[in-house]
Amino acid sequence: MMSSLRLENISKQFEGSMAVNNLSLEIADGEFLVLVGPSGCGKSTLLRLLAGLEQVTEGRILQAGTDITALEPRERNFSMIFQNYALFPHMTVEQNITFGMRMRNEPKSKHRARVDRVADLLQLGELLNRKPGKLSGGQRQRVAMARAIVRDPKLFLMDEPLSNLDARLRTEVRDGIMTLHQQLKTSTVYVTHDQMEAMTMADRIAVLNKGHLQQIGAPQTLYAHPANLFVAGFIGTPAMNIFKLPCRDGVVMVGNQAVNLPDTAHARQLTEVYLGIRPEHIDDSSAYRDPGNPGERLHLEASLTYCELLGADYLNHAQSPLGALRYLRENRGNAPQANQQVSLSFSLHDIHLFSGQNQQNLHRESQNA
Ligand SMILES: Nc1ncnc2c1ncn2[C@@H]1O[C@H](COP(=O)(O)OP(=O)(O)OP(=O)(O)O)[C@@H](O)[C@H]1O
Ligand SMILES: [Mg+2]
Repeated sequence: MMSSLRLENISKQFEGSMAVNNLSLEIADGEFLVLVGPSGCGKSTLLRLLAGLEQVTEGRILQAGTDITALEPRERNFSMIFQNYALFPHMTVEQNITFGMRMRNEPKSKHRARVDRVADLLQLGELLNRKPGKLSGGQRQRVAMARAIVRDPKLFLMDEPLSNLDARLRTEVRDGIMTLHQQLKTSTVYVTHDQMEAMTMADRIAVLNKGHLQQIGAPQTLYAHPANLFVAGFIGTPAMNIFKLPCRDGVVMVGNQAVNLPDTAHARQLTEVYLGIRPEHIDDSSAYRDPGNPGERLHLEASLTYCELLGADYLNHAQSPLGALRYLRENRGNAPQANQQVSLSFSLHDIHLFSGQNQQNLHRESQNA
């Protein structure tokens, strides 16, 4: 993989806090990388370090092998799109888009072709002579994007560009960004705290927590093989059910069934593990759902507490011997009722086990061992 950008052991210390802590990653040429994590985990700081708007406390940033750590923002030729995009209200859409080119005294003859190209990509052709005050939120955000891409940057940096838009516009602008990316193939680092947005847009997702990189990988990798308890709880909607259970000699009791932990020295000396099971992997014997892979299954008797209709599915909340849990049930046949007794089961293949000590995935540990 050709790497367009490489971060080596980047840290950023503010007074009293490490916003980014010894973080290394590579962004491939043409890749769409999404940074996710809870509020305050360091996403914007990392983006600002890439842009050159903040200086790293430690570490290096390399672009195509060249150290750019000390370069000024304008020397990097990256384009940044913020959550609060500021358009000039007294200028037309076209003047807003060409503002940077005019500031750099680029020849007028070049403007026309480039404006037409981005206006076409972002469907702004009809709006070029309007002022921002007469545009919808989504249209304004597309103008802000047009202004960023007209420069033909080496890298796009986007900080929650959809968060000010309503649900329908989010989808519209998101589709616009993806179409654009497919055509331009410009490497992009995209920040969001919305893991659904991350799942649908990313080539790879990087999960941050408290300035630390937790895991980086394809959306499906993070979903199927979360490296630790944090990623397990963060990726996936509705969130994974997680139970803290006692264990001994590498065996955990799930209800009255014994489940072997992966056979490692670490697992054998544990006294507690976290068992994770996704709501979509729990089957309800009263539903029409095909249990698919029968394999070895674990069974739980539970009582429904309440049922949320999501549309195609119900999200059922239940009390089980392991604790409260949630699972998805198809919206077919009789509607589930509160207080109803249900027989739940799930496959051993679908469970995730995390160390009670360091919260790392025990399966990954045994694979790496
Ligand atoms: N200029 C600054 N001076 C001091 N501390 C800062 C500064 N900028 C950010 N921080 C701190 O660094 C940490 C990371 O902030 P950052 O803005 O990167 O988070 P974020 O992940 O973008 O959060 P959000 O999702 O809320 O936008 C926070 O604890 C924040 O308070
Ligand atoms: Mg932020």
